[in-house]
Amino acid sequence: MKGTTEVLLNEKKIYKPSDKVLKNAKIKQWRAVQKKAAKDPVRFWDEAANDLDWYSYWGQTFDDSNAPFFKWYVGGKCNIVQNCLDRHMGTPVENKTAIIWESDAGKRRKLTYKQLNQAVCKMANGLKFLKIKRGDRVAIYLQNIPETAIAMLACAKIGAVHSVVYAGFSANALRERIDDQGAKILITSDVGHRRGKVIDMKSLTDKAISGSPSIQNVIVVRQGTGPVTMKMNRDIYYDALVDTQPSICRTEQMDSEDPLFILYTSGTTAKPKGVVHVHGGYMVGLNRTFQWVMDVRPDDVYWCTADPGWITGHSYIVYAPLMAGITTVMFEGVPDFPRPDRIWKIIEKYKVNILYTAPTLIRALMCYGEKWPMKYKMKSLRLLGSVGEPINPEAWRWYHKFVGKNKCPIMDTWWQTETGMFMISPLPSMPLKAGSATLPFPGIKAEVVDKKGNKVPVGKGGYLAIKTPWPAMLRTIFKNPKRYIDTYWKESPGYYHTGDMAHKDKDGYFWIQGRSDDVLSIAGHRIGNAEIESALVSHKSVAEAGVIGKPHPVKGESAKAFVILRRGVKGTDILIKTLKKHIRTKLGPIAVTDEIEFVEKLPKTRSGKIMRRVIKAAELGQDLGDTSALAD
Ligand code: PRX
Repeated sequence: MKGTTEVLLNEKKIYKPSDKVLKNAKIKQWRAVQKKAAKDPVRFWDEAANDLDWYSYWGQTFDDSNAPFFKWYVGGKCNIVQNCLDRHMGTPVENKTAIIWESDAGKRRKLTYKQLNQAVCKMANGLKFLKIKRGDRVAIYLQNIPETAIAMLACAKIGAVHSVVYAGFSANALRERIDDQGAKILITSDVGHRRGKVIDMKSLTDKAISGSPSIQNVIVVRQGTGPVTMKMNRDIYYDALVDTQPSICRTEQMDSEDPLFILYTSGTTAKPKGVVHVHGGYMVGLNRTFQWVMDVRPDDVYWCTADPGWITGHSYIVYAPLMAGITTVMFEGVPDFPRPDRIWKIIEKYKVNILYTAPTLIRALMCYGEKWPMKYKMKSLRLLGSVGEPINPEAWRWYHKFVGKNKCPIMDTWWQTETGMFMISPLPSMPLKAGSATLPFPGIKAEVVDKKGNKVPVGKGGYLAIKTPWPAMLRTIFKNPKRYIDTYWKESPGYYHTGDMAHKDKDGYFWIQGRSDDVLSIAGHRIGNAEIESALVSHKSVAEAGVIGKPHPVKGESAKAFVILRRGVKGTDILIKTLKKHIRTKLGPIAVTDEIEFVEKLPKTRSGKIMRRVIKAAELGQDLGDTSALAD
């Protein structure tokens, strides 16, 4: 099998923007814009902040006196909700559709900006009624439904810190995240829906919070028809809570650097990291990147197919489109249910102008054949986006031809939970290459460096690193500033360490190759090898485990576990099934491990660390590389 790098290096074709795209693009002279921003990034971000409303302006745009704990818009007072909702009230935007929601079963719900604002105010008052105040943490465990956005905005409005946990995570994973942040409230639903099936969310959350020292109340959004078990004095239905609340609520004036949310993401250890984002810099970074990359127009209907439980959903389903005052589509279902044309149907039904999705979804739909998208003209589409993992040129071309009908530029946006916003991405007026995220966004300085932080020559692979701070960057790891420093500021001296490998071509275009650390990307979902290993080892039959990622045609990567069993335990097919189920219970369906193999030994360093790199090379029939550290 050809390596990714080899395939990517052969990708030469340039896709120039059409005259129509160029004529309408917000940023036409992108080179000049980049040049100016590169000269003085702080000034660039200072100017960008003026596109938004502030209660009072900042004194200092950027403060690096306590690096790497950088600050932006120091002294400024703002609230992201002021920009998402308040400022649209009393303007023509208030009667525009803010959210179009389509359920798994095909039910539609629309909320205008005015209705959304009222719902957020009621929810915010409900939270206050439950004694939630500035700085308190609120966990949200909901599917892709409007109440997820309402809950996030309600928290932000009153200065509480939300932490959305993806509904595909298990009760264990939810518990771990609730405990780490000390959330006082959990917002969940009675049931969820997926592929026509009903998921019992309430029992799962009851399990997750049983004996929780921090949870005081559970707010339950009704999605099903029947009653569920409610615990007296703890659980309250969402409608019962908000119906009696007033539909106006004052938005808290927050300091620019006050936390907005914590979002957990996988790292190289078994414990996920609570990435902290703040109001001021995050809203500026999002607004500028979204406006320019997605080339937003006031009447756009925009659809990001991610889930609000991931950063993509936070930044670019909820916050950025609402700040832009456009219509954002939320979809509870899956792309191939009831048929593989669900996505194309929704695009036609709601006249979607911008589609932002992930390579794994494109590859999955490619498997059903182009006959499905070809049945639909999708005339409304103007722009396409991709995120989450490298998009292979074949998938890029399929997306371009059969979805974009050769007329929609594809914005391949590289970024991370930690970066908060797009970092490397084309602007619509730029020439594109299939499979490249192209160039850093104006004001961002990205490089490919070696272990010592030296730039590597053109065409050579290295670590993707960011030279200068940016406003939407994470501020720390919740309760773990040391891990923040160690993970991001030590590995590539003088740079923010992204954990990705990349190379640059002669035009300066970046080609992302994937993670350099022990983090898997399964269907675009980030999960640590160590998390799966730790889940396996928690089973009574398992002594040790080593997990690697293998290339997968649809999911990008799939997990394979090598397991040493405890003495006397037999490695049977039934045990494989049991262990897979165990991983699911511990982590959730997103950590699904395709293969489990029982082994006698695992390659280790002399200090006892499992050498996943060696296992992977052996599994894929590649050169084992430097094995001098091997103990045996
Ligand atoms: O490896 C990169 C990959 O996704 C990682 C970040 O994952 P997460 O924090 O879950 O956020 C995903 C959505 C922003 C990155 O370190 N990644 C993300 N976008 C791209 C990508 N890899 C290649 N090309 C992209 N466009």
